[in-house]
Amino acid sequence: MRIEVTKADILTIETDAIVVYIYEKSDDLDGIVAGADKALDEAISGLIKNGEINGKHGEITMVYTLGKLPSPRLAIVGLGKREELATDKVRNAIADACRTLKKSGAKKLATAVISDSDLKAQDVAQALSEGATLGLYEFGKYITKKPDYPGVDSVSIVVADDKDLKQITSGSQRGVIIADGVCMARDMANEPGNYMTPTDMAEVALNLASDNITVTVFDKDWMQEKGMGGLLGVASGSVQPPKFIVMEYKGGGDKTVGLVGKGLTFDSGGISIKPSDKMQEMKGDMAGGASVIAAMGAIAKLKPKINVTGIVPATENLPSGTAQKPGDVLKTMGGKTVEVINTDAEGRLILADALCYANELKLSPVVDIATLTGACMVALGDVCSGLFTNNQEFADKVIASSKATGEKMWQLPMYDEYREQIKSTVADIKNTGGRWGGATTAAQFLEEFVGGTPWVHLDIAGTMLSDKDKGYLAKGAAGIPVRTLVNLVLSLA
Ligand code: BES
Ligand code: MN
Ligand code: ZN
Repeated sequence: MRIEVTKADILTIETDAIVVYIYEKSDDLDGIVAGADKALDEAISGLIKNGEINGKHGEITMVYTLGKLPSPRLAIVGLGKREELATDKVRNAIADACRTLKKSGAKKLATAVISDSDLKAQDVAQALSEGATLGLYEFGKYITKKPDYPGVDSVSIVVADDKDLKQITSGSQRGVIIADGVCMARDMANEPGNYMTPTDMAEVALNLASDNITVTVFDKDWMQEKGMGGLLGVASGSVQPPKFIVMEYKGGGDKTVGLVGKGLTFDSGGISIKPSDKMQEMKGDMAGGASVIAAMGAIAKLKPKINVTGIVPATENLPSGTAQKPGDVLKTMGGKTVEVINTDAEGRLILADALCYANELKLSPVVDIATLTGACMVALGDVCSGLFTNNQEFADKVIASSKATGEKMWQLPMYDEYREQIKSTVADIKNTGGRWGGATTAAQFLEEFVGGTPWVHLDIAGTMLSDKDKGYLAKGAAGIPVRTLVNLVLSLA
């Protein structure tokens, strides 16, 4: 699918469908909609008068133009109130419109730009490009029956004149790079576990290697040399070899940002096995790692002037005769010992080693992204990710990026009182802190391994999946928080 910016009069172009916009409670129609209304013998103003169209955000009205316009289909998309327009609404609106038009059989789409708002033309173009790409996303590779629509080949953003053309073009290009990254993360997390093993994940990362990004994949011998007992402990139940993926982007400057992602390609729980209901969703337990790999790919294309290193410890968590057992004690990379109470609290074990390694590389600041706890999902649902930090100043930057992208996050507490729950009488620390406050105790377990570096932990257990097609989310992997990570790195550069 291609996205392009073209200079033309959208009402005269030859295409399968055009998208125009309308605000809620707007008395006069904007130039393009007024033009379409005239061509269609005032059908649009008629629909508005009848209350069929009211411009509410989320409203899509598709009409057939019956030869009165060169495009056979016209979608009138509601944006809500003009003063409440935000880029996330633009992204959702175009995504829904593209999905509707795709299902109607259109192959070539064209959208007008939204001009009469307070948003910058560049940001609108980025949001349109992201929304179109993400809304048209589908993971159908294992369905042998073809869908009953041909699919969309291209979306043109049609600009009437030279004003803002440059900004619109650059915004659109940025949007396409970032949205392609989100789709890549979705693809990885949607892959079944038998097609997305640690080795397959490493392969995806290696394919991103280029002039400005070095990718190194370390194997089990190296992990043993490094003393990564956490990762090795989790991997010991599986015949799939674990991989430690490191991606280094060099953009300049003296600091290197660290992105660390949980790459658990299938989490059965291990010996502390999970109930079988919904266990298949645990093929997506590598969504954090996928977001890091995909964000690194996008960063290498956008070329910000900053260094970034992505780290993904990748393994399966399975029960077997060689699997680790509750009660085992593991020695992690920094030398800290961990008593394994529950083998299903495996994410923190592999991240412990990855965070120690980030520390050895002197990465700062560091963000880790993990589908870490059901507790976070209970607390926040699928609306926002949990955010934890040891450094409020850095957390505020991540929160600002989250607000800019619409990938919602909510900060949860790190009070010292919770730390009592992960004290062990057998080792330095234990890997579960009981049921209550489980998202915080997991975060505090991780904090033991960050060595004081400014750090943010994002728990994406609740947000990694979407249960249905909705705006720019497609059923299945959400591909979050790729856009926030990219935005953050660009803002730190
Ligand atoms: N990968 C899971 C967390 C998860 C649950 C992610 C649901 C997405 C959806 C994690 O490894 C896990 O099993 N956590 C346990 C920890 C517990 C044993 C302390 C949990 O949350 O139940
Ligand atoms: Mn688990
Ligand atoms: Zn897990």
